[in-house]
Amino acid sequence: MASKTISDGVYWVGVDDYRDILFEGLWPIPNGVSYNSYIVKGKEKIALIDTVDKYYAKNFITNIKEVIEPSSIDYIVLNHLEPDHSGALDQILQLAPNARVVGSRLAINIAKAYYTQKFESIQVNDGETLQLGGCTLKFFLTPWLHWPETISTYIIEDKILFSGDAFGTFGALNGKLFDDEIDLPNMEMKRYFADIVSHYSKFVIKAGEKIKNLPIKTLCTTHGPVYRKDPSYPIKKYLEWSSDRDENKVLIIYGSMYEHTKELAEYFEENFKAKNILVKSFDLSRTHPSYVLTDLIDAKAVLIGTPTYEGSIFPLITNMLEYIRIKGVRSKPFGIFANFSWGSNIIELLKKKLAECGMTVVDPTILTKGRALDDDKRKADILFQKILEIVRPND
Ligand code: FEO
Repeated sequence: MASKTISDGVYWVGVDDYRDILFEGLWPIPNGVSYNSYIVKGKEKIALIDTVDKYYAKNFITNIKEVIEPSSIDYIVLNHLEPDHSGALDQILQLAPNARVVGSRLAINIAKAYYTQKFESIQVNDGETLQLGGCTLKFFLTPWLHWPETISTYIIEDKILFSGDAFGTFGALNGKLFDDEIDLPNMEMKRYFADIVSHYSKFVIKAGEKIKNLPIKTLCTTHGPVYRKDPSYPIKKYLEWSSDRDENKVLIIYGSMYEHTKELAEYFEENFKAKNILVKSFDLSRTHPSYVLTDLIDAKAVLIGTPTYEGSIFPLITNMLEYIRIKGVRSKPFGIFANFSWGSNIIELLKKKLAECGMTVVDPTILTKGRALDDDKRKADILFQKILEIVRPND
């Protein structure tokens, strides 16, 4: 994908990543992802805003050369040091050895630890500016979006905000760039938010406060489209997902070896559907935790089901709970259903894991020996009613 003009003197020079890999080694990206980098040409100075993953350095440099000679870069602004954005720093510094690296104190510190090329740096603080000649870059400290060193960069004259990971999305650009050229719902913004940014929701809200009164004509993130038609769209979405508002939605998360757990999961699912409750069911043998987290962030209640495996929790459930714990998913009520064949303290084990995740448990817990019998289903009906009262209290 070649470079593109955003406005007079502002260019996109990023790349798409179509490799069949897990983003961060963790998250599936079947539709790829873009690493966005931008050139800002003032009358006197030129700034490059962020770089790309080093795997794509060659394509990146080709894009830059369509716009400028790389040696003419005066400043390399690093909004964020994660290597999907800083990874090509060494390659750029080899072509622009006199360029000064601009970033927060911590960003400069990390850059020196990551990269081998020597560089001069400019450490910026909140609200500081840098003149390019008729074009003023203003920097905002926006920590934890999504690392502690992150800043956002704003062109005062053009009202363009370069927000880094904040307001980004999964999905390659495939030759398009602007929000009015792209089918936004297909871009998996919510999954990107859940997987990458949701742990730092309170910092999204703080950043929202900081930019609330900033006129933004164009929003340029590091992943996904450039928003020129409606820059408020991703900001509103991020603030909505960062709030503590939940949908009236139940998630059923389960693992199943020989369908005993699955049968009870389906029993619960049918009951919720019969009450017109939005319910989403995830068999972890068929679903990556990334997709579960995406629906979990705004679910009101959860049912989690596990067989007993080697005397313990089914490993895929343990794995899912570890994602939930690490991502700091907001506390939610969990109902438990589990089964065993010859002995089990699985309910206690699961309760302990859920407590470690900060979740609450709704009684009664359901433990079946093999498949659920009528007595088990009567108990499951009581649990169903308890969850129903949480999701739709006036039912
Ligand atoms: Fe897109 Fe946190 O890097």
